[in-house]
Amino acid sequence: MDENATSSAEMWDRRFGLDEYAYGREPNQWLKIRIESMTPKSNSRALFPADGEGRNAVWAATKGWKAEVFDLSKEGMKKCFLLAEAHQVAVDYHIDDLVTRSFDQEKYDLIACSWFHTPSVIRKRHMPRMLHSLNPGGHFVMEGYHQSQLPLSSGGPKSLDLLFDLDLLLAEMTGEYAPKMDIIHASVETTVLDESDLHRGEARVVRLHLTKT
Ligand SMILES: C[S@@+](CC[C@H](N)C(=O)[O-])C[C@H]1O[C@@H](n2cnc3c(N)ncnc32)[C@H](O)[C@@H]1O
Repeated sequence: MDENATSSAEMWDRRFGLDEYAYGREPNQWLKIRIESMTPKSNSRALFPADGEGRNAVWAATKGWKAEVFDLSKEGMKKCFLLAEAHQVAVDYHIDDLVTRSFDQEKYDLIACSWFHTPSVIRKRHMPRMLHSLNPGGHFVMEGYHQSQLPLSSGGPKSLDLLFDLDLLLAEMTGEYAPKMDIIHASVETTVLDESDLHRGEARVVRLHLTKT
């Protein structure tokens, strides 16, 4: 990990080092709705980038997905393993940085992430890279805070550069660093979050569902 990733990991370790689950133990509701419409086969693999304490991966594992996470935080990994144990499922968790991680070609049927905010210079180059590891027909689902979330107090980074603009995000996720993707759903929405004290109340979000052709 480079210097930036190390200091970011320390910040997330402090947040996840508490007993409470920072964003709750339940999966992100948008991810849950989209993933519930899919039927995993016995060998269907799902990758949850930046899943922190593992709530999305653990839930997906209870639904039959072979769930894998990569994230910067060792404390997040410990919490994920505790949650997985409570649900009697297994999650394969890697401490890794989006920037330096290598992605196998055509490995996953699903990649899903919630609130994965990175500096735009990293996002535009490295988020689309993940999509190459989808199998043909595989799904990419994400939710993040929109730029109009900046003045609101229902969570998200306090930097415009870290927040999403839908047109830009779509251009990146279907652009030069991405494989060919179809757009199933792309929206900016006002929603009401109730995940934890950190993510509660009216919020402005982007929601994306793509499939690999
Ligand atoms: C707001 S938390 C969201 C956690 C989880 N997705 C959820 O919704 O509960 C952001 C997560 O992104 C991870 N993260 C940030 N930058 C990362 C990077 N470059 N590579 C991997 N993980 C990263 C952090 O460690 C943290 O777990």
